[in-house]
Amino acid sequence: MKKVRKAVFPVAGLGTRFLPATKTVPKEMLTVVDRPVIQYVVDEAREAGIEHFIFVTGRNKGNIEDYFDLQFELNETLAQRGKTAQIELLQSMQPAAGTTSFTRQQEPLGLGHAVWCARDLVGDEPFALLLPDMIMRSNISCMRGMVELYEETGSNVIAVAECDPAETHKYGIVGAGEKAGAGFEITGMVEKPKPADAPSNLYINGRYILQPEIFGLLATQARGAGNEIQLTDAMLRLGDTQRLFGYHYRGETYDCGSPEGFVEANLAFALGRADLRPQIETIVRRLAG
Ligand code: UTP
Repeated sequence: MKKVRKAVFPVAGLGTRFLPATKTVPKEMLTVVDRPVIQYVVDEAREAGIEHFIFVTGRNKGNIEDYFDLQFELNETLAQRGKTAQIELLQSMQPAAGTTSFTRQQEPLGLGHAVWCARDLVGDEPFALLLPDMIMRSNISCMRGMVELYEETGSNVIAVAECDPAETHKYGIVGAGEKAGAGFEITGMVEKPKPADAPSNLYINGRYILQPEIFGLLATQARGAGNEIQLTDAMLRLGDTQRLFGYHYRGETYDCGSPEGFVEANLAFALGRADLRPQIETIVRRLAG
């Protein structure tokens, strides 16, 4: 069985829900407390054993590449000023030389198309796919749990989390079949079903481990909802020839793709920091009162 070594981060979306900020700032570079959203997602992948990080970017996203580069002058200045803690923080997050790749999705034709743009960089091996909109918090990271399930099953793994059963119309929902190790067989996937039609309340929460055959399917995938090339449509076809397993993630998920989810993530992560919690609690109490 091939190890999952590479992760794809599709960061080419226009981020229209964050206009006007996203006119010039990629939404993945907006900060949750003191670090860009994309840093949390890369950290999750690294913690799960991923060795190579592939970013599918687009126009106005150049500073994502700069962010993951070594900032030589900054490090020099910090060293001269004796700022050891800051130097160590930056070093702990710095990808090693040669472990990042960047390609551009020239037109925002949908998530499926963005993933397809990474085909040559991934090659003929299974890969992790992490949507940077979603950031997670839990004891065992979502991707680590998924890699363990992949090692048990050797197939495709899609992470799901529970949503309010009344809100299935906001998400991609899976049908859950027989248990398989720490996961279950996925029996179907439905985009935004009404609660009465939903096969479960388990929604796809933005983390996948996919076999490379998905690329051939994406190459021929017709446009779907929103006139975009939809990853879900290609995954459904993948399910005709390969097994799809669901990984039931039980930690917290924050959808930083919407302003309200982004603000919630900021509050949650700030309250989770021992050095910030007392001040943030006071501020929230004052503003709410
Ligand atoms: P979203 O639809 O949530 O992102 O796509 P968006 O289009 O940037 O946001 P809004 O709706 O306009 O506010 C989910 C993920 O897929 C990526 C996005 O960057 C995001 O990480 N994506 C989407 C692409 O890389 N390319 C696309 O063509 C579409």
